[in-house]
Amino acid sequence: MYTTLKEVTKTATELNFTVGAFNTHNLEMLPEMIEAAKEMGSPIIIQTSVDTAKYIGYSVLVSVVRTIADNEMVDAVLHLDHARDFDDIKAAIDSGYTSVMYDGSHLPFKENILKTKAVVEYAHKRGVSVEGELGTIGGTEEGIHVEENDKVYTKPADAVEFVAATGVDALAIAIGTNHGQFKSKTEVNIPLLKEIHAVVHIPLVIHGGTGVKEEDYPELINHGIRKFNVGTELLVNWTKTAQESFAETSINQSLRHNVIPANDVCKSIIKHKIGLFMNVDSPLNK
Ligand code: 13P
Repeated sequence: MYTTLKEVTKTATELNFTVGAFNTHNLEMLPEMIEAAKEMGSPIIIQTSVDTAKYIGYSVLVSVVRTIADNEMVDAVLHLDHARDFDDIKAAIDSGYTSVMYDGSHLPFKENILKTKAVVEYAHKRGVSVEGELGTIGGTEEGIHVEENDKVYTKPADAVEFVAATGVDALAIAIGTNHGQFKSKTEVNIPLLKEIHAVVHIPLVIHGGTGVKEEDYPELINHGIRKFNVGTELLVNWTKTAQESFAETSINQSLRHNVIPANDVCKSIIKHKIGLFMNVDSPLNK
């Protein structure tokens, strides 16, 4: 079923798992992404940047995700990632996205609250979920770079105030992760996550999932992470596999010979991640 972030994270909270939120950069990989979730028996969040949404078309993405989700009976959310402009958010919501992120993390605290609140009002009236962000994630995404020294970790007291004042459905927190970190792994600040989770009672979101060590997943999930973003790992593996295929095939061969192997690689990564996200080995789930 084509559904919302609020719905899938509610189930994830009840059952103590996290929902994988995977970035797509094209239409090609979408069917296999949703098929991966179907085979694992899990919901999935498909997310696009604003630029990808504009490249493919908001309503085209909605049609494709909705059709596959309904046909395959998979709980799938279509989420707009890191939008900073209200017009982009409106375009997504009016086209049928079921979830949006307003990223006001670069703004002064009060301004972030006011702008996020306005997005929540617009979105909730239309049944759409909203993710906000407090603190800054490091690294580079869609050309926006945050230096290591400019990273600001989320303060628990600010998070409490932000959630109460805005009414967001999920909160992206900064606990040491970086966007686009695919050559190394980061040290996540688990004690800070525990502090935030003790006082913030809505689903928490990890960004920069590619750079997170898989052995840290259980701690993250057991302390409230209910949406786990993975983008770069899919992107680099899709591109690498496609590059290898393109190098081997002749120019008049159907494109599917190059694209299918790349899609298959993404599918197996997603199945692997979802297997970990289900958190079945956690003592809390026994
Ligand atoms: P990575 O690309 O680093 O996995 O991060 C994805 C993300 O957080 C999207 O907002």
